Amino acid sequence: TPSVGFVGWRGMVGSVLMQRLQDEGDFARINPVFFSTSAAGGAAPTFAEGTGTLQDAYDVETLGKLPIIVTAQGGDYTAEVYPKLRDAGWQGLWLDAASTLRMEQDSIIVLDPVNREAIDAGLARGVRDFIGGNCTVSCMLMGLGGLFRNGLVEWGTSMTYQAASGGGARHMRELLNQFGALHGTVAVNLDDPASAILDIDRAILAKQRHPSLEASQFGVPLAGSVIPWIDSDLGNGVSREEWKAGAETNKILGTATRIPFDGLCVRVGAMRSHSQALTLKLTQDLPVSEIESILAADNEWVRVIPNTKADTVAGLTPVAATGSLEIPVGRIRKLEMGPEYISAFTVGDQLLWGAAEPLRRMLMIATG
Ligand code: HSE
Repeated sequence: TPSVGFVGWRGMVGSVLMQRLQDEGDFARINPVFFSTSAAGGAAPTFAEGTGTLQDAYDVETLGKLPIIVTAQGGDYTAEVYPKLRDAGWQGLWLDAASTLRMEQDSIIVLDPVNREAIDAGLARGVRDFIGGNCTVSCMLMGLGGLFRNGLVEWGTSMTYQAASGGGARHMRELLNQFGALHGTVAVNLDDPASAILDIDRAILAKQRHPSLEASQFGVPLAGSVIPWIDSDLGNGVSREEWKAGAETNKILGTATRIPFDGLCVRVGAMRSHSQALTLKLTQDLPVSEIESILAADNEWVRVIPNTKADTVAGLTPVAATGSLEIPVGRIRKLEMGPEYISAFTVGDQLLWGAAEPLRRMLMIATG
């Protein structure tokens, strides 16, 4: 039974990962060793039998005895500890949710339903860093993989509607507190059906613009608004989240000729499922029914939603997709620009396929 070190198991992504490992009975296949950045020596969690005490997540010697380390502790931790481990000669497998090592030449971005061959080939040739992809990219490729993997996409754009959870747990709380504060401002008027909606609207706007509205995480209000910038400003008009879309999509697919893939990334007031509207230029004029069949056949999690209003509103929303490993994809139709241009809309739980699940599955691949 291989020993596996877990760092960052208490945070949001880590907690979802622990839950998935429990749900699948995966702890029976490994000997987990739990680390902590703050509470070494305390009792380890009891996801599995006999886990003992928490180890120090900065103790390179203890970490270095393990054949596999899985971290969801975040990019700062990776940047600090990973180089020390490798400098000390550690040869083990590093499985990481953070973006720090994603675009390194010697790392593989793991999304095995899409790139299992690259993962297997990497393991065989001694690749040791297996990194989870950006949530939006992973969810998009789970939904649209059929077209990408069959060489049917000439280029694409993705306009995203990203949930608060992508920022972190505090961001989710802030969004809910904002919803509550806004409602509180107008609750009395709302209860009166005869009150004037424009008065209510004015009061909401005043509250949204008032410094008393807690907005320290996102910087500006998200409730009742949208924020069309995610992650850092690369200084060339592109956000880091937008850069990741093209860079990681092509790395995961292992494209010999880069597929141009770009778009705008937008934060919306959803909780934990990211949505995206895609425009794809296909390499061929395929009937919509064939496109739907290709998408549906790609993996066991994608669900093609018929392009009707009733099916779309019932099945193609963050509320419908959250908590499920299924990736709905719909709104597939030809666009007016020409027979090779299609639209699509897809939704995915940002913490499942977007973060924890590819890592969990990589751990199971690595431990055979
Ligand atoms: N950057 C993502 C977001 C998080 O902010 O939504 C997951 O990669």
